[in-house]
Amino acid sequence: MRLFCCYLIEKLYLCGTKHIKAPFLIRMKKLLRTLLCAAFPLAAVSVQAQETVINVNAKKAGAAIQPTMYGIFFEDINFAADGGLYAELLKNRSFEFSPDHLMGWKAFGKVEIKNDGPFDKNPHYARLSSMGHRDLWTGLQNEGFFGIGLHKDAEYRFSLYARVPEGGQQMLRVQFVDQNTMAEHQEFAGVDVKVDSREWKKYTVTLKSPRTIEKANLRIFLCEPNGRSGRGTVDVEHVSLFPVDTYKGHENGMRKDVAQALEDLHPGVFRFPGGCIVEGTTLDLRYKWKNTVGPVENRPLNKNRWENTFTYRYFPDYFQSYGLGFFEYFQLAEEIGAEPLPVLSVGLSCQFQNDREDQHAACTKEGLQEFIDDCIDLIDFANGDPAKNKWAKLRADMGHPAPFNLKFLAIGNEQWEQPYFDRLAIIAPEVRKVHPEIKLIGTSGPNAEDDHFRNGWKAMRELKADLVDEHYYRDVKWFKNSMNRYDGYDRKGPKVFAGEWACHDRGKKYNHAGASIYEAAFMTNLERNADIVHMATYAPLFSHVEGWQWRPDLIWYDNLSTARTASYYVQQLYMLNRGTNVLPTTLSIDGGKPAANPVPEGEDGVFASSVLDKQKNEIIVKVINTTEKVQDINICLNGLKAKALPVSAEVTTLNCADYDAENMPGKPEVVTPRTTIAVMSGASLKAALPAKTFALYKLKLN
Ligand code: AHR
Repeated sequence: MRLFCCYLIEKLYLCGTKHIKAPFLIRMKKLLRTLLCAAFPLAAVSVQAQETVINVNAKKAGAAIQPTMYGIFFEDINFAADGGLYAELLKNRSFEFSPDHLMGWKAFGKVEIKNDGPFDKNPHYARLSSMGHRDLWTGLQNEGFFGIGLHKDAEYRFSLYARVPEGGQQMLRVQFVDQNTMAEHQEFAGVDVKVDSREWKKYTVTLKSPRTIEKANLRIFLCEPNGRSGRGTVDVEHVSLFPVDTYKGHENGMRKDVAQALEDLHPGVFRFPGGCIVEGTTLDLRYKWKNTVGPVENRPLNKNRWENTFTYRYFPDYFQSYGLGFFEYFQLAEEIGAEPLPVLSVGLSCQFQNDREDQHAACTKEGLQEFIDDCIDLIDFANGDPAKNKWAKLRADMGHPAPFNLKFLAIGNEQWEQPYFDRLAIIAPEVRKVHPEIKLIGTSGPNAEDDHFRNGWKAMRELKADLVDEHYYRDVKWFKNSMNRYDGYDRKGPKVFAGEWACHDRGKKYNHAGASIYEAAFMTNLERNADIVHMATYAPLFSHVEGWQWRPDLIWYDNLSTARTASYYVQQLYMLNRGTNVLPTTLSIDGGKPAANPVPEGEDGVFASSVLDKQKNEIIVKVINTTEKVQDINICLNGLKAKALPVSAEVTTLNCADYDAENMPGKPEVVTPRTTIAVMSGASLKAALPAKTFALYKLKLN
């Protein structure tokens, strides 16, 4: 009967309007389609075993999907900022790493560290002095972050602040060197810099690299114009090296390939700067945004909290230069088209790390004014009028007179219980008094279902948070059990921000493609609940192959290239195909009862959700087969006029059947999406979905 209906529908399509009057034709098509998709699936499925019928109610545009629905979460973990997204190539450029002010540098000859330099918040600099012999050399060599990655024919901007304290003129030879070469010369590019002032002055030169090299070094010799060792003294400070070609060409810019990977995702929201980094191991080490704006030379260095979290992957040289600071975050958000979402401290340092009295873990409730000011001043920095507000003026002075249009602010990262609730109860009303237009986000703690979580949600409801941040780094089993997580959520009160989440598997070791398929399936649950879920950001975002503390991560890189993981492609497919409205979608397996998700909890199966994109006039159906077997599916579009139906669909598939496959720098395309075309049969599209596959069907309406 089913085949007969399909045959009739096709015939009706083929015969066109020549011989039959249009209204009659349309009525017939509609009738047959209704019979096919609504009445016969039970019978059809019982004949054709193992078919999942996906009924899309194409007429009933449901909840609006927020533009912020899918986004990114940035934290400086895994060398995500310095040594990653931030394009600076030299480590410890300001000689502020402590206790070793020469960390990242090799000093030779006579080098002293002094601390009365031109930048009050970064007072250290290096003094290079003559060794008093033409063949005894003085200088410095920088190792970069796991080496300095350079590309053939690319240009690099070297700059430093320098002076000749005795007056007169001295020379520095600046070289790109390859220490591992067997060639006659280690130097493969070089330039002389004449330092000609007793006062501090900035010098800038450009070097072109004649070769691609992953681990170069930068060497500076104090020398004479004749190439012999220098006779005088030169002070050097804020020694910096950037590719000229940064993302959008900013001098204090982002690594182009890394930032491009973000732009290509098309995220709706960009959360920064963390994560635990917001809280700090101690309160004093927390992320203080005011230290990250203004001239880069005078942004005080801070330790990175991820230097010391996991002693089994310890990085004593992990600091935050804050060259990538709040101005740069806002600018980047704007350039990649995402809503900025800063997270600020609530006056509590990391509760995981602070269970001892003596650890300076919390600001007293009386002392919270500084934290209130941080919130209000940040909103002014982002949105204020430069003529009326000093923070807005700073933004304008930094090159962005127009506001950044900040709409959201999160207060507190992963905090829990009374210490958090009490502080938020003081800070939030003060912020609201001045800036009622900003949506405030609170947190439900580090877990997705424990007492902290439940108490957190209760408190956030009472405090009238606009959104509640939930975190879940969980294994496959948890995801299989959570495919209906948001179906039963209370629709009143705050909305959900799934602020950090990822599916971890097999000892949380790699970016297994096999785990990504559960992320895709779980996202059908986010999508069909878009009335309550307003934001979701996978975490963490970045990782350097040699500098990671936490995996899996969305994007990996070495010094020369990036790799987009299978999880990246899952996120990208959702972000590019967000749609504007949810379409009610039910599935029935083998003639079973139609439901939003009929797969029994904890089991593998076929998961699906659909959206309408009103602007593009298309329907997008996302279908995920998490099983080990091919699954027959039948997508039925219900409620559309015959003439509106598409004849074909664009199908993008991401196959994750090779469970352990992963994309890494050097091998970035092991798992990638493929696009083909599928032909529709009237209102129905049948397909055999391979095992462990995410398929996205784009149906352009006529
Ligand atoms: O993403 C890594 C860490 O996980 C974040 O810093 C923290 O919020 C969570 O515990």
